[in-house]
Amino acid sequence: MYPHADYVTVNISSPNTKNLRELQSDAALDALLAALQAHRLELAATHGRSVPLFVKIAPDLDDAQIALIAKTLKKNRIDGVVATNTTIARDAVRGLAHAEETGGLSGRPVFAASNRVIGQLRAALGKRYPIIGVGGVMSGTDARAKIAAGADLVQIYTGFIYKGPALVAEAARAIAVGR
Ligand SMILES: Cc1cc2nc3c(=O)[nH]c(=O)nc-3n(C[C@H](O)[C@H](O)[C@H](O)COP(=O)(O)O)c2cc1C
Repeated sequence: MYPHADYVTVNISSPNTKNLRELQSDAALDALLAALQAHRLELAATHGRSVPLFVKIAPDLDDAQIALIAKTLKKNRIDGVVATNTTIARDAVRGLAHAEETGGLSGRPVFAASNRVIGQLRAALGKRYPIIGVGGVMSGTDARAKIAAGADLVQIYTGFIYKGPALVAEAARAIAVGR
């Protein structure tokens, strides 16, 4: 996809692929990112342009794990981070029908967890490191909260299903007002 993409995200945080999230651990992540960076340099030489590489992480990480990921991203000169994927936690839906089914939760139940990760990443990575915030943006106010948490850009998945394209304009307006 290199010649066609504006940027590429490496997703190591889906709960639906067995053992995938183990790639977020220290040694495995370092090895993966080093290999990707080396391959990207070859592709950049072949195609005459450097396509930014992002890594997408889970919301179900503790502070130490997030700090380690931040360090490994910087060490391997990865261009940015996408935070976050769906959550395997059930706190936000405890007691509801189907709450205990397997798989990742998106939308409202991942909003706060995702914002926490974004905030931690911003603190660990400094002001200028690109962070794409995603998780539970269902309104313009939510989009603004993602920026306030530390994101530079906002992605929407589940909110788009419920609200459609109008949510994009709503989010853009809310972010502009907040500037
Ligand atoms: C049905 C479904 C499929 C998804 N597939 C992917 C995927 O293939 N790759 C990926 O990185 N994230 C995937 N995600 C995660 C979303 O891109 C997003 O990070 C997450 O749902 C949180 O954002 P949201 O609350 O706006 O949906 C998927 C989410 C859902 C609900």
